[in-house]
Parts: sequence; C-alpha cells; structure tokens
Amino acid sequence: MSKKKAVYPGTFDPFTYGHLDVLDRAARIFQSVTISVAENSAKKTLFSLDERIEMIRKSVKSRSIRIQRFDGLLVDHAARIKAGIIIRGLRAISDFEYEFQMALTNRKIAPEIETVFLMPNERYSYISSTFVKEIARYGGDVSAFVPPVVRRMLKKKFNTD
Ligand code: PNS
Repeated sequence: MSKKKAVYPGTFDPFTYGHLDVLDRAARIFQSVTISVAENSAKKTLFSLDERIEMIRKSVKSRSIRIQRFDGLLVDHAARIKAGIIIRGLRAISDFEYEFQMALTNRKIAPEIETVFLMPNERYSYISSTFVKEIARYGGDVSAFVPPVVRRMLKKKFNTD
C-alpha cells in the first residue's frame, strides 16, 4: 500500500469548488490522487454516477488526476488501487464527528490505510452540496460555489435554463 498514493472519495452530488480546492491541495502533497465516486452511497443522489463522473472530469480537466467509481467498502477499494491514504475535507467543527467516526472505523478494519484531513480555503468552508442543490432548485445563482460545467448541469436538471 503506497503512502504516496491517495484516494479522495465522496458522493460529489454535485462537485463543488470546495472539493476542487481539497483535490488541488492533495495533488500538491501526494504523487498520485484518484477521485473515487461512490456508486451506492447511502444517500439518494440528484445526479447519476455517470453525471457526477462527467462533471468531475470536466472540472479537473487540466489536472493529472484519475477518476474512478467504487461500490462497497472504501477501504477495499483503496486496497485494490493500492492507495495507502484516504483524503477527506474538513470544513468546520460540524464535520468533525462524522469524519472522526468514519476515519476510526476505516482504521479498525484496515489499519494499513491512513486518513488525512485537509481544510479547504476558508472562502469555501461554508459550501455544501446540499445548499448548492437547494439554491439551484429555486433558480438561484450558484456560480460562486461550483465550476461552470456543474452550474450548467444543475440548470438542466432543474429546468431553470
Ligand atoms: O462525500 P460523502 O457523501 O460524505 O462521502 C461518504 C463516502 C462515500 C466516502 C462514505 O459513505 C463511504 O466511504 N462509503 C462507502 C462504504 C463504506 O466504506 N462505509 C464505511 C465507512 S466507515
């Protein structure tokens, strides 16, 4: 398991500038970063897996980052792609309890994989995919929160073109 290889997992429904910021930070630290998009997340998603992968692919196009889908346990996926590091973004204290539980659970079942938390720039610390969807649903402007391709996909999804 390589500690130079990191996986950045999530639902990314949708992908935001906060995610992109965390990704860029991870890419500056690790030799390789794979964004792994959860197929069967416990959450019901607005965007299909293919749509989420498409928006990430188009948002990170200038970066040398791999994008994969995964199903099942994150640690099994990390082991399969030989990533010894799981990246998670921490925006605020409110994220901490869930992230702490997840990191320790993952460590218990796969002690060889380490979770590393990265904080996005504070200008993104309040962005959440949930609020982005809510704003977009009612025709609000989400251009400060998401890359242009995601904004277009939200408009299409909610018919607010
Ligand atoms: O961006 P999210 O929605 O907070 O990402 C959560 C995700 C997909 C990383 C998490 O739910 C996950 O790892 N799911 C895969 C199943 C798994 O491994 N569960 C045990 C985690 S303790």
